[in-house]
Amino acid sequence: MDKQNIVIANWKMNLSPADSLKLAEAIIAKLGEIKPLKAQIVLCPDFLSLSGVAQKITGQPIMLGAQDCFWEPVGAFTGEVSAQFLHELGCAYVILGHSERRQYVAETNEQINLKVKAALANSLIPIICVGETFAERQEGDKDSVISQQVSNALTGIRLLDQDKVIIAYEPVWVIGSGQAVAPEEAEHAHRVIRQVLIDHFSMNAVNGQIKIIYGGSVKPNNVGNFLIQPAIDGILVGGASLEAESFAELVKQANL
Ligand code: PGA
Repeated sequence: MDKQNIVIANWKMNLSPADSLKLAEAIIAKLGEIKPLKAQIVLCPDFLSLSGVAQKITGQPIMLGAQDCFWEPVGAFTGEVSAQFLHELGCAYVILGHSERRQYVAETNEQINLKVKAALANSLIPIICVGETFAERQEGDKDSVISQQVSNALTGIRLLDQDKVIIAYEPVWVIGSGQAVAPEEAEHAHRVIRQVLIDHFSMNAVNGQIKIIYGGSVKPNNVGNFLIQPAIDGILVGGASLEAESFAELVKQANL
């Protein structure tokens, strides 16, 4: 059975709004050469670039995602960004619990759980990032760390028919390192995650409403090895999504 891969670009805080627009334009041009385009494409610029990129991609087979959201829909929360407003702006996805947020702003599993609930309540598809640090891996705790993160992020959540969720397995120590994990290792982690999901939700929901994707130094020269793994439904890409050329190359290889 053919799977429809999803390719998600995480631009992080790398591009100004002007540069984000330029890259979106270049990506649209490059993806126009891929016919038929079967993979799902999501661009996640920084908050300031969202509305500009939303306008650029109107009518294109490209979806928009944010890199975070707050758990309350509206109110006195200085500096936070509402999932409801993101949806209104045209976002369909939101990255939650990225390791850089866990590390630099001390985001906790409990906060991530609240954010996942807020995303689903506002018709956004949460892209929940999980992954072990190098120390946790050395300790042999990898499987239990990622299981715990998935389980905590989904506490108290019941999926409605229209809800969709993406879990992104991103080993923290390979992000931005240029060196991805072995595809077989990622496949193992995906199976561990799948089992946690099956414990939480029905098998039908896991098969029909949840994708498990890999992230961490995905490049054109290694992406194929990940995408042939049966439990890997797509990729979350940082560095290689910052140039239209390399991003389009990833999409080509994901376009099965
Ligand atoms: P990378 O980032 O592709 O640059 O390793 C991936 C991510 O952090 O989502």
